[in-house]
Amino acid sequence: MKLGILLSGRGSNFEAIARNVLAGKLNAEIGFVFSNKPNAPGLALARQLGFRAESLEMTGLDRAAYDAKVAEMLLNHGVELVCLAGYMRILSGSFVSKFPSRILNIHPSLLPAFPGLDAQYQALAHGVKVTGCTVHFVDDGLDSGPILLQSPVKVFDHDTVETLSDRILKEEHRIYSEAIAWVSRGNYQIVGRRVIRT
Ligand code: GRF
Repeated sequence: MKLGILLSGRGSNFEAIARNVLAGKLNAEIGFVFSNKPNAPGLALARQLGFRAESLEMTGLDRAAYDAKVAEMLLNHGVELVCLAGYMRILSGSFVSKFPSRILNIHPSLLPAFPGLDAQYQALAHGVKVTGCTVHFVDDGLDSGPILLQSPVKVFDHDTVETLSDRILKEEHRIYSEAIAWVSRGNYQIVGRRVIRT
């Protein structure tokens, strides 16, 4: 399955996926890496690793026009599954409808708890004892699509946002590739909000 990765920042989830692909541990191909930020470290890393990687500035484009261009780039590169890896933009409904049940996102909490920004801070501030990460399909809401995989992470009394985020990130790196492998094998069904293995 040909993957398209969308990122805005450091790209550690992209790197984990890429390392698994390059090591032959994940049966998928990275067809294209895109960033809305030309200076994203993840984009530089993608080029270093030899992947096709491009960016596009927002200037002068409204959301729909911008997303249409991004979708066109992904389709031109034959992308079959779009993986959001720290992509800090909400996708327009028309983008989502071009890739029906073909967009994944990773979020650093056990959804539906703590959607949106600063999920690790939200978890600490709320005082939960367990948080974690979630890979889900993307719909046109915020972190709201059907859930594929989750992994719990304990919150310790001495945790800071940084220490907690580090432990969650390790789990993110593990479950994102697992979820991609699952989708590429195709042995699942989406029933309402539930993703069921077949
Ligand atoms: C991760 O915590 C991910 O869950 C969230 O954004 C962060 C991206 O980190 N959506 P990285 O750029 O993959 O290192």
